[in-house]
Amino acid sequence: MTAATTILLLNGPNLNLLGTREPDVYGYETLDDVEQLARAAAEAHGWSLESLQSNHEGVLIDAIHAAAGTAAAVVINAGAFTHTSVAIRDALAAVALPVVEVHLSNVHRREEFRHHSYISGVADAVIVGAGVDGYRLAVDHVASKLGR
Ligand code: DQA
Repeated sequence: MTAATTILLLNGPNLNLLGTREPDVYGYETLDDVEQLARAAAEAHGWSLESLQSNHEGVLIDAIHAAAGTAAAVVINAGAFTHTSVAIRDALAAVALPVVEVHLSNVHRREEFRHHSYISGVADAVIVGAGVDGYRLAVDHVASKLGR
């Protein structure tokens, strides 16, 4: 697959626990389910999907840097790093790829500390509260933005 047809899906801390983690907030679908549905959406548009989950900020930053040469766009749920990480925001700004920020829950209906995102200011689109469907919407948006 060439660089221009790969979407990088990044999931941040604690999202490896999807399915068992606070299911009333995040639902019962697992990270595997999320990756499968995002991959199916990408492939429906003729894209491939590269997926990484990490609980470590630096690992996510390294993956964003590597995306500059390998991906056409980044779909990211940075988990709690959304609300804390200037470094992830700076990495996304540095690579200047299209970015869609996803959150399973409607962060604006939750605690105030979740209302601010460092990512949103460098994202092309932000999808919150749509559950796992948000990942499909994000991939569809990237495909339409990039004219697929
Ligand atoms: C989340 C929302 C964040 O506030 C939280 O820290 C997460 C998950 C979401 O998908 O709703 O880990 O990004």
